[in-house]
Amino acid sequence: MATKTGEGFSSSFGAIMAAAGSAVGLGNIWRFPYICGKYGGGAFLLVYICFVFFIGMVLMMSEFVIGRRSGEDPVKAYPKLQPKRKGWRYVGIMGLITCFLILAIYLVISGWTLNYFWESLTGTLASISNDGFGKHFSEFASSAGRPVLFVILFLVFTAFVIIGGVEKGIERVSKLLMPILVVLLLVLCVRSLTLDGASEGLAYLFHPDFSKLTGEGILAALGQALFSLSVGMGVMIVYGSYLPVDDNIMKSSIWITICDFAIAVLSGIAIFPAVFACGQDPTGGPGLVYQVLPVVFNSLGTVGRIFSVVFFLLLSLAALTSAISLLEALTQWLSSEKIGRTISAIVMSAAVVVLAVIASFSFGDGIFSGFKIANMQIFDLLDKLTGTILPPICALLTIIFFGWFMNKDDIYDELSNHKTLKIGYFKVFYYFLARFVAPLALIIVLVAGLFGK
Ligand code: TRP
Repeated sequence: MATKTGEGFSSSFGAIMAAAGSAVGLGNIWRFPYICGKYGGGAFLLVYICFVFFIGMVLMMSEFVIGRRSGEDPVKAYPKLQPKRKGWRYVGIMGLITCFLILAIYLVISGWTLNYFWESLTGTLASISNDGFGKHFSEFASSAGRPVLFVILFLVFTAFVIIGGVEKGIERVSKLLMPILVVLLLVLCVRSLTLDGASEGLAYLFHPDFSKLTGEGILAALGQALFSLSVGMGVMIVYGSYLPVDDNIMKSSIWITICDFAIAVLSGIAIFPAVFACGQDPTGGPGLVYQVLPVVFNSLGTVGRIFSVVFFLLLSLAALTSAISLLEALTQWLSSEKIGRTISAIVMSAAVVVLAVIASFSFGDGIFSGFKIANMQIFDLLDKLTGTILPPICALLTIIFFGWFMNKDDIYDELSNHKTLKIGYFKVFYYFLARFVAPLALIIVLVAGLFGK
């Protein structure tokens, strides 16, 4: 499309796969199940659905419109669409900073995942006894050498795809990996659901327990909805600038959102029944996937070992397509005709790996674990900033820009593909959501979550 470098997706299908690849990631498979478990299962799910479809999806459409209309990176997009108010560029800058921080922590967790994939492949995990996984995980994650090695390995894969280009790298890899991911996940779901005692896990996931749903839980649901859809940090503005001119933005956003939501729920279905069937603790928190699931896999014998390989492969692939979009946002911003894509990708990778290594060293009992800011280790601070604080603030500003500062005719023109699509009453509904419902909900949840209990 109209980007300066002429880069773009070749088809709507490719664009949907790439954006879904960005959205579906560790957030769906690693983060959603444990957060859902922590805040009351079904009750959390209900709130989450509302946030996903009434706020997250609206934001995704808005970011696509901003991106395609401007054909620019997030920093230049806002002032281009509203030349009289250049200050909006700071929202783009804040988004990119958020991307940078997310990528750092994302790399650490992806590194763990890649290591677990390797360890299930080589049989190391299968040789550990059931009560040894907690120790195994904390020793591994707090050590200095191995996690860093896997972080670098993962980053090299990511950078490699970015250097390949938007169509030949990102689009091609996403079109290949996303369908594989869905198949692997379905296989795991079937296995999990056919275990004895699976129904207890389903009840845990779907039965609403409103007593566990606190104000903090509601903020967590919002943070998770934004994090999972990759909105509120400008990445979808970047992908919007690559959308084909004839792509139907509303339709694509709906598909991407449904896909992201379905994969989160399917991950819950793959994980909780198995956890219950093997008598494990479902509230295992962030360690659920690394400490509890290996026990589940081991108790299934040889088949379990295959499922273990499949699962960690699935998680690595999901993480890869997300990391790609994060690095792409940073690369697109840095690259210009003068610097070029390859050098930009390398420079950004080098910068982010420094923060990732610091974060990795600060995890658990790592060598930097004594260093604290605001009483938090760097890893926890990054997790909090990127999971619950920065994206909602950025999302709020983006939606205010879209609903109140962008030219209405530009928006309709973009949503209707220059009046070739009929968008009728949906346009009114959508505009109402973007102008009133989403900003108000974001303000309420943010204020309540940050200042109240
Ligand atoms: N959506 C990704 C996930 O669910 C994580 C993520 C958050 C992300 N923000 C992003 C990915 C921005 C790419 C770009 O795991």
